Amino acid sequence: MIIKILKWAGITLLSVIALLGAGYGLIAMNIKNRTVRQYNFDNEVLDIKSDSVTLARGKHLVAIKGCQDCHSKDLSGRIMMDDGAVGRLSASNLTGGKGGLPSDYSATDWIKALRHGIDKSGQPLIFMPSHETTLLSEQDMAAIIAYCQTVPDVDHELPPINLGPVANVMSYFDKMPLFSVEKIDHAKPMVARADTVEGIKLGEYLAVSCSGCHRADFKGGDPLAPGLPPVPDITSSGNPGKWTQQQFLQTLRSGKTPDGHQMKNDDMPWQMTAQYEDKELASLYQFLHSR
Ligand code: HEC
Ligand code: HEC
Repeated sequence: MIIKILKWAGITLLSVIALLGAGYGLIAMNIKNRTVRQYNFDNEVLDIKSDSVTLARGKHLVAIKGCQDCHSKDLSGRIMMDDGAVGRLSASNLTGGKGGLPSDYSATDWIKALRHGIDKSGQPLIFMPSHETTLLSEQDMAAIIAYCQTVPDVDHELPPINLGPVANVMSYFDKMPLFSVEKIDHAKPMVARADTVEGIKLGEYLAVSCSGCHRADFKGGDPLAPGLPPVPDITSSGNPGKWTQQQFLQTLRSGKTPDGHQMKNDDMPWQMTAQYEDKELASLYQFLHSR
């Protein structure tokens, strides 16, 4: 009797393992196919000027849009993660140095990346938040491109991206934004220029950079990955709803909340928010308070 039960238990267990294995195999294949899919969009043209005002604007945007958090301070790229479970994620070297963008990487290629989430050859960029950069105004995207084209060459060769099982499963269930090309409304026209007057509209434009973590409604949610803190609600119904505009500015400049909690830059990128202008932080506050 016991032997029979054990035998059945064993068969059941083996079947479950086999099913899981087959299920994972299908998921891994699905993700693999999506990484090599070929996309083709009509080429767009931006008026890319490189006067000093535009370059200064581009530099500021590169600082406040988190490009340096992923691509490193000098934009020479960085291995963002390398572990057996999640896999290896490298953010490209965006300079013209060895291991960087090829010498024929044109403005059109920059637009493919920032507007559509694909590389020069038309394949998806992986983990690059193009679903956010696609919402930049034409003027701001042009400024970013102009500035990036002036940064000094840095030789830095990076190992290729290699997705592990956790990344495969999480992106299959849409818990990790690997393929921004699939999230973008490619037919939506870009706005020519964004409002730069302090207020709710400017705040809404800037808050795109917060939505990836704080969610589209800014009400927060589960941790972004195992081991990270939950993401708080930053609207009027969350803690910042009780703060003054001054306290909000101080928090985003220092990473320290009014109740004395020091946030880690790895959890909440406050070294990025510290570089926003007063006007921009005030606008973010006003926008988030209106939600
Ligand atoms: C969350 C991290 C992250 C942020 C923020 C980010 N990137 Fe990326 N970016 C990546 C990764 C990862 C890749 C590599 C994608 C790949 O190789 O498939 C990439 C690729 C690119 C590419 C394509 C380069 C190539 O090799 O084809 C460009 C251009 C680029 N990023 C520009 C930017 C700019 C400009 C910003 C800021 C506005 C920015 N990125 C912000 C992670 C990021
Ligand atoms: C990479 C993910 C990420 C991005 C991008 C991000 N945040 Fe956060 N933010 C977090 C996490 C995680 C916490 C909680 C940190 C902790 O508990 O220590 C947090 C905390 C905060 C807090 C403190 C809230 C409280 O209740 O104490 C504020 C305010 C905040 N973020 C505002 C912003 C704004 C504004 C932006 C966009 C300009 C932004 N964040 C972008 C992840 C992010």
